[in-house]
Amino acid sequence: MSANGTERRYTITDIARMHADGQRIPMLTAYDFPTAKLLDEAGIPLLLVGDSLGEVMLGYESTVRVSMAEMLHHTKAVVRGTKRALVVADMPFLSYGVSAEESLHHAGEFMRDAGAQAVKVEGGVRVGRTIEALVRAGIPVMGHIGWTPQNKYAAGGKVRVQGKTAAAARSMLADALAVQEAGAFAVVLELVPEQLAAAITERLSIPTIGIGAGAGCSGQVQVLTDLLGWSDFKPRHARAYANLRESILGAATSYAADVGAGTFPGAAETVRMDEAVLDDVLGTGELDRASGQAVAIPLDADL
Ligand code: KIV
Repeated sequence: MSANGTERRYTITDIARMHADGQRIPMLTAYDFPTAKLLDEAGIPLLLVGDSLGEVMLGYESTVRVSMAEMLHHTKAVVRGTKRALVVADMPFLSYGVSAEESLHHAGEFMRDAGAQAVKVEGGVRVGRTIEALVRAGIPVMGHIGWTPQNKYAAGGKVRVQGKTAAAARSMLADALAVQEAGAFAVVLELVPEQLAAAITERLSIPTIGIGAGAGCSGQVQVLTDLLGWSDFKPRHARAYANLRESILGAATSYAADVGAGTFPGAAETVRMDEAVLDDVLGTGELDRASGQAVAIPLDADL
């Protein structure tokens, strides 16, 4: 039984209830079937198929490179791996916000074709209309303000904490209110000073999900590879709960050594057959040996 009290998937109503009950909401990114299955089993209520996929799984230098086809492919895998988590698909760069029609079309692909239960879009006031159009069409939307990675190049290419000046803090507050007003069910606050994130959280009725935004948010999200200690880069705001990098390196090195030494596979990883059957095939049985006649070993082509 999951934390929503049933075996069914979490809905945005469950998330609103968790928030109303003062429960902090954990969210993680997920990109593939087997990991999503484990995160679901662990009871994580919100899984985000983030476009961080591009950087952490596909080797792109920014999320700007991620395509709809790639996002749909991975969203389908995460949906197949989950029974309870609410799966949020990140809408990639330029798949929304150009026209309401295109935004609806792409969000529809995530919901209808990939099986996501919500989408996420980056931006505040500037995507208010887009969020409204999606919500009106019955698509739950998660907002994302503060540092918005799809804006990386427009922002000069450097990842920075947002909202440190009075003007930037005011503008972020306006963004948060616009996203809520437009009908989003939650909003990600990325790289925001903790006091500002707490002030935004206090002023919103929808939950804020922080990443690098302090403990005063209604929930937290981490990129899965950071949580698992999978890469050699650890952002300051992340906490690794495992050291997968060391585990994978250790496993691969030990495996190569065992293959080299001839100790893999061993008896436990090997099947044997009845010797008599093989003798029969090879002509090496007792009778064959007694007759002294060499038996022709059949070639592959004769079998
Ligand atoms: O793509 C992503 O992983 C995200 C999280 C950082 C919130 O948007």
